[in-house]
Amino acid sequence: MKKNKKKTIIIGTGSGIGRALAFKLSGEGYLVGLTGRNPEKLKALQAELPGESVARPLDLRDPREAIHSLGNLIMYMQGMDLMIINAGVLFRNEELVWAKEEETVKVNVAGFAAMANSAVHYFQKQKSGTLVGISSVAGHRGSGRSPAYNASKAFMINYMEGLRQKLFGTAIRVIDVRPGFVDTDMIRGNRGLFGVISPEQAADQIFRAIRKGKKKVYVPGWWGPLTYCFRKLPEWIYHSGYKKYLSWDTRVRARRS
Ligand SMILES: NC(=O)c1ccc[n+]([C@@H]2O[C@H](COP(=O)([O-])OP(=O)(O)OC[C@H]3O[C@@H](n4cnc5c(N)ncnc54)[C@H](OP(=O)(O)O)[C@@H]3O)[C@@H](O)[C@H]2O)c1
Repeated sequence: MKKNKKKTIIIGTGSGIGRALAFKLSGEGYLVGLTGRNPEKLKALQAELPGESVARPLDLRDPREAIHSLGNLIMYMQGMDLMIINAGVLFRNEELVWAKEEETVKVNVAGFAAMANSAVHYFQKQKSGTLVGISSVAGHRGSGRSPAYNASKAFMINYMEGLRQKLFGTAIRVIDVRPGFVDTDMIRGNRGLFGVISPEQAADQIFRAIRKGKKKVYVPGWWGPLTYCFRKLPEWIYHSGYKKYLSWDTRVRARRS
């Protein structure tokens, strides 16, 4: 392992945006730490990447164990300059099945906070570093379809603002990335999506934000003004729009089945 290479660890590289980020950063000359639940997927990805990488299974459903695995990975890579917390789960959960809500909170909230906490402690000792969290435009309003998911993204947005305040004036940066719709397993099969971009386009825009040292970034950027208006919508308009969308979606599903 080359000592003077820039080093990044990405939490969740098994598919989608995390996988595309692994390719992007590997192509940019980073030593990449690949993590996820499935060792086989990580090994296969490692074989495809253009540059050097290290793969370690890590499951955010057990945050304490994940902290331990992350510590070992940082030690093995002999450092970390950039940490990207990308892993997340989204369940369609109109029936409010507790197991789905619980997994969302475990992975997207407790798992995220565990990784962010470890990264900040590490960067404080090092006196520099960049932490990136992939939140979502969904973090701005609630969702009747996936209540825990939208709430978990609101947690991430708020937590990262807290970290930025805590680290203000230091050489440690915290970047909140808020994607709109990205064509990955997470949203495939959903109807009524617009402005969908590829994971590779998302990875390019995320890398640009890291290079520019942004604090928060919408991916693509036009989601910024759109979510501003969306946030201002009175609740009754927001809820009646959701109701109309649901009945349209149910009609389309019924016609297709
Ligand atoms: N796609 C979108 O439209 C969109 C929009 C806004 C925000 N986002 C956010 O972007 C991030 C990436 O999502 P994606 O769209 O790329 O979806 P995806 O293809 O489903 O990827 C999810 C990633 O999370 C990892 N993961 C899931 N559970 C995990 C666990 N328990 N422990 C460790 N890793 C876990 C997966 O890796 P393994 O399967 O290998 O474990 C995979 O790399 C998520 O945080 C998502 O909320 C996505």
